[in-house]
Amino acid sequence: MPLKIVDVVGARPQFIKLAPVLKAIKEYNEKNPRCPIQEVLVHTGQHYDYEMSGVFFDELGLKDPDCHLGVGSGTHGYQTGEMLKRIEEVLLAEKPDLVMVYGDTNSTLAGALAAAKLHIPVAHVEAGLRSFNKQMPEEINRVLTDHVSDLLFCPTKTAVENLRHEGFTDILNDGDLLPYPFAPYPLPPASVVINTGDVMYDAALMYLDLAEQKSRILECLGLEPKSYALATVHRAENTDDPERLRAIFAGLEGVARSGLPVILPLHPRTRKALSSLSPTPCPLPLSPSTPSLRPIDPVSYLDMLLLEKNARVILTDSGGVQKEAFFFRVPCVTLREETEWVETVETGWNVLVGCDPDRITQVALEARPGIESSWPYGDGRAAERVVELVDLLFRR
Ligand code: UD1
Ligand code: UDP
Repeated sequence: MPLKIVDVVGARPQFIKLAPVLKAIKEYNEKNPRCPIQEVLVHTGQHYDYEMSGVFFDELGLKDPDCHLGVGSGTHGYQTGEMLKRIEEVLLAEKPDLVMVYGDTNSTLAGALAAAKLHIPVAHVEAGLRSFNKQMPEEINRVLTDHVSDLLFCPTKTAVENLRHEGFTDILNDGDLLPYPFAPYPLPPASVVINTGDVMYDAALMYLDLAEQKSRILECLGLEPKSYALATVHRAENTDDPERLRAIFAGLEGVARSGLPVILPLHPRTRKALSSLSPTPCPLPLSPSTPSLRPIDPVSYLDMLLLEKNARVILTDSGGVQKEAFFFRVPCVTLREETEWVETVETGWNVLVGCDPDRITQVALEARPGIESSWPYGDGRAAERVVELVDLLFRR
């Protein structure tokens, strides 16, 4: 019997995390034609603008979702509740052996909860991350998802240690990166924690050459390598607090006024929040006297990889973008008080600046490379480990 898994995704970073896993499933099936993995892709509809969803399917060659739930935006309770109801219907019809969820969004939590309540095993890709800040919706989503998961795929050793502190004891290879290829493991009965490496590193390695061949974003925006800053802002704690949002944008304006243009692919949440700060539509309240602060629509992943790789410095509150800055050895300034990706800070590639405008400007303008040290994010084969472990542990 084929092993049947349901993948639940819905938000931008999840399409990127999914890409290497789908590729690994395809390769697995080519090697094992007689016992393939059957994969059912569920898109919750959390993100729905073409720039936030469709472009990733088109550009990264992802298969179309088998099931689109069309949930859309709303309050946390509404959005998560609607997803829960609709995912449950899919799971009752599909009867998978396992549900895979990714990251820390409301789609992650809804997928994990729907499966756990039906006693379907859950695999969490990007398990164990913690900010230790329960004001973040993502922190609630992560903690709850991890504690209903059966397979916890951690991107780093830090993530494994976070789970150890929360009482998880079945940890393969003592939390070090699982050697690959691996011999069959004796199967622990309870939730299993595995350091697989980071699927986002797999994705960056997978798509960088294609980005270099295909993307014309630098030419389109008239940018020379290392002559601009790249910024993204979308965290609820920044966008939903007008004072913080104003302060962050004052910091970005400071960078732009000092002669380093700032390219700002704007998340729709941020565009809306900025518009509500001002009676005139976005890009105001960005100052017209600072034309080198350049808001643009969200860009595709290939364009984003090139913008990141060629930036002099990256300013962001995104988890994924902090890491990609590290992958490309670009100094990063994080517009938050804490980060889940502590290795980027410990190695000096990332500085946490919060929302103080002067500090944002100063740290960005003075940003320097960190140290070359051991690589915490795996070897680019995280997705292969994920797929083979799923098969090993759940094939009936
Ligand atoms: C969500 C995740 C966050 C992740 C981010 C990735 C949660 C709680 N948050 O935040 O962890 O970092 O995705 O980008 O799950 N909107 C549109 N078009 C879209 C999508 C959203 O206009 O295609 C607008 C809507 O006004 C919506 C707002 O953005 O209300 C926020 O969207 P939502 O999906 O609730 O959260 P994100 O901020 O995107
Ligand atoms: N990203 C993108 N286009 C953009 C902004 C981000 O393709 O305009 C990619 C980015 O390269 C990374 C991922 O989206 O791979 C990060 O997603 P996001 O910042 O929305 O969420 P987070 O990682 O904070 O959850």
